[in-house]
Amino acid sequence: MKITFVGTGYVGLVSGVMMSHLGHEVICLDVDKNKIDLLKNKKLPIFEHGLQEYLDKYSDTNRLKFVDCYDEKISDSECVFITVGTPPKKDGEADLSGIFSSIKQLCQYTNQDCYFIIKSTVPPGTCESIQKFIYDQGYKNEIISNPEFLREGSAVEDFIKPDRIIVGKQSQKAIEVMRNIYKPLLEQGIKIVETDLSTAELIKYTSNSFLATKIAFINEISDLCEAVGADIVKLTQGVGLDGRIGNKFFNPGPGFGGSCFPKDILALQKLAKKADSDFLVLDAVIKSNTHRPQIMLKKILDALGGSVNDKNIGILGLTYKAKTDDIRSSPAVAIIELLKAQRANIVAYDPEGMLKAKQYFKDLVCAKSALEAIANADAMVILTEWPEFTLLDFNKVKELMNTPIIIDLRNILEPDKMSKIGFKYYSLGRKNVC
Ligand code: UGA
Repeated sequence: MKITFVGTGYVGLVSGVMMSHLGHEVICLDVDKNKIDLLKNKKLPIFEHGLQEYLDKYSDTNRLKFVDCYDEKISDSECVFITVGTPPKKDGEADLSGIFSSIKQLCQYTNQDCYFIIKSTVPPGTCESIQKFIYDQGYKNEIISNPEFLREGSAVEDFIKPDRIIVGKQSQKAIEVMRNIYKPLLEQGIKIVETDLSTAELIKYTSNSFLATKIAFINEISDLCEAVGADIVKLTQGVGLDGRIGNKFFNPGPGFGGSCFPKDILALQKLAKKADSDFLVLDAVIKSNTHRPQIMLKKILDALGGSVNDKNIGILGLTYKAKTDDIRSSPAVAIIELLKAQRANIVAYDPEGMLKAKQYFKDLVCAKSALEAIANADAMVILTEWPEFTLLDFNKVKELMNTPIIIDLRNILEPDKMSKIGFKYYSLGRKNVC
């Protein structure tokens, strides 16, 4: 099929490139000319594991093209996926102006039987108002909702093996179109869940908010483990083996971050308020995650005898999770700000996130390696679960540090091993090893 993607952010670019892998002829459109120029030269404007290989492969065929404006090149598209950003406004509500302005342009350049498929995360009711907007302009294009569940860092794999495909539709014809688009995945047994437009839109918010709730819950259970001397690793194993609960998204950490969970829970809270519906659980999740960096700070202060004033802290990890260069709403950023306010001397290292972090903190001192970051440090603080941090030579680390203290806020190291080497080791929901 001939498919256009509007917006080449994470979702649009990964889905666009991967749709060409499913056999479609894809055009990726973005008005950001710099991005499109990069892509035309087979360079990715984002860091996404495994995507380069597909970009290289399909750029050389007629299955993948990049354009920087709306014009007749997209006129024979059978459907257009809209994957433009919906950033939060000051009050937390999703800003939908980007979607409406692209719809306006699309109406002009595509045929009336071209389907417009909304992949961006939008509040329930949005697709309906877009449909009305299209009719009001005198066009007939039908709106479909097809929310996305890709995770940064594993987006390629998530695209090829989704847990399910959600389709919010208004007609039987629309579902046939979606079945054609996803045919190769459906042949592998992936299921489509058909819904109305608003339900599809709300599924996306519910999924992200539920996962955020699960993380906030286990974060607080891990605090409780520390208070009563229980072990979070055994606990999550014991609880997670209950098939009704499951062990995924059950690892405690310094708080959830990224461009999705924090934004989506705020948008859902706003939506509930607007609908005059209480959402007390969500209010608590937001409060819990906002407060999390303070709890992490206290942990670091306790490990260092109550003060970090003029202490050298080697920070390992800046991104909001591993396998990405993204530092948006990263708990590492909030924790570094708190440490700086307590006058700690910070040297940070992250395998992928330092460029973006330096744009954020103009005065952040970054090291070229993890070992350089912890040299002469009074403590090492692990904030992101990069696998390379587990592979460090910890005997060497101990030699390089001023004092052998590790505060592992991702539980990636083994307490016994750290203790044997001679570290004071603090982690989440497990006994401290001093
Ligand atoms: C999330 C969803 O997982 C995707 O399904 C969705 O498509 C995407 O948002 C989106 O709406 O676009 P993403 O933001 O890439 O994906 O990151 P996740 O892997 O979900 O992690 C989010 C945060 O939760 C990270 O800060 C991570 O460290 C934290 N987390 C995750 C934990 O603290 N513990 C866990 O057990 C899992």
